[in-house]
Order: sequence, then C-alpha cells, then structure tokens
Amino acid sequence: MDDKTVQSILMVFAMQAEAQPLIEALSLKKDEPPKIVGPAPCVTFSGQREGLHVHVVWNGKDEDTGVDNVGTVPASLSTYLAVLAFKPDVVISAGTAGGFKAQGAAIGDVFLGTAVINHDRRIPLPSFDKYGIGYSLCLATPRLQAELGLKQGVVSSGNSLDYTDKCLEIMGQHQVAVKEMEAAAIAWACNLYRVPLMCVKAVTDIVDGDRPTSEEFLENLHAAAAALQTTMPQVLAQLAGRKLSEL
Ligand code: ADE
Repeated sequence: MDDKTVQSILMVFAMQAEAQPLIEALSLKKDEPPKIVGPAPCVTFSGQREGLHVHVVWNGKDEDTGVDNVGTVPASLSTYLAVLAFKPDVVISAGTAGGFKAQGAAIGDVFLGTAVINHDRRIPLPSFDKYGIGYSLCLATPRLQAELGLKQGVVSSGNSLDYTDKCLEIMGQHQVAVKEMEAAAIAWACNLYRVPLMCVKAVTDIVDGDRPTSEEFLENLHAAAAALQTTMPQVLAQLAGRKLSEL
C-alpha cells in the first residue's frame, strides 16, 4: 500500500441514529445532486474538517419495512459505490457494537478495530473455511490509539443481533472484543480497491453479560452515538495531513 498523506476520509454507517449526530457535529451536507444514484439505497454527506475532505455514506432505509439497511449486504454495496465515488485515502467503519467484557469492554467504550472476521460464515470445505472467516487486518494506528486512549481489539461481523453457540466459539477462538453486523463486509469492498480500513465502534451492550441484547442496545444507542460524536472528530484530527505510516 502506498504511504499516502491522508486527505480524504469515508465513514460508513448502517444506522441513521448512529450517523446523524456526527453529520450535524461536523456540519456535513447531503450531496445534492446525489453522488450515488438509485436504485442503490445509500445516502451520502460531505464537507471539510481540519483540511480533510470528509464523506459519510449511510446504508439508507429498506423500502418494505422502513428500517435501516443493517447487515453485510447493504454495507458492501454502499462501500463499493462510495469508494468509487469519493476515492478516499482511508475508510472508517463507524457505529455501534456489542462488547465482550472478557476482552475488557464496557458500555460506552469506543474501540478501535485491529482486524475483522465473520463469525457466521461457516463453510467446512478446504480453503472455503478460511474464506468464510475472512480475517482481514485493519490499518495500524498505534499513535492515534495511544493519543486518544482508545481500547482496541478484533471486530467480528454477522447478520444477526444474537448468536449461536458456534458463533460464540469462533469469536472466542479469535479473541473478539466487539461484535457487530458490517465491518467484515466493508473490509471486503475496501480490499478490492486496496483502501485501508479503520473500525471505530461504540459499545451499546455486553455480549457475555446477563441482559437481553435488544433491551440493552435500545437503552444505550443514543449514548453510544453521542460517544462517537465526541470521538470521531478527534480521530479525524489525528488523521488529517498525516502519512499512513505515521498513524
Ligand atoms: N450492534 C450493537 N450491538 C450489537 C450486537 N450485540 N450484535 C450485533 N450488532 C450489534
């Protein structure tokens, strides 16, 4: 990968509730006319911050149900199209996640991803097993991590808010710190373009805790989005104008 100077950033969000506070905090404007045309449902926002071109792509809403397009399929489509449209130097998979207290996670923490995997692609065939896990390293940002005092760990993606025993076993084998529903798909699209990926995930619920995930998630969604609204501008300030190797 070229040791580029970071001049433009793309943040990928699944939920409007995760993205909106940050869009407002950074005074980003919806791209009009759209930079990505339908029928792709994603919506983009752009602006400037610390000399950086800052872009957000949100996966948009599902026509049938009216809810956000969460999960891996819309995430890879949005990332593919937005990287093509904006040619960012770095992509950030931003949003919320369940955290593992066994890996030091607590509600409201913001984690940096070290690597991503899939925990729900189990394909016990030669080489397909490795493809299924889809282990992919994130951009190393040791200076940024120390400067902002963020926790870090492996991010695991799957298309369910809950998990099976087998999912849990895979996440345990990879010492997963946070579980969400998009990062590995975003990594797949980034790897096609050789664009480096960072993951910044705010913890809404404890996966290895004793409360029902959906209850804990809804209770903490807005607080986690607020944590992102605080952390993301600090992350952008650390990236702006630095070479990838200096992060
Ligand atoms: N997003 C927030 N919490 C999550 C969890 N426990 N699993 C998947 N995605 C999440």
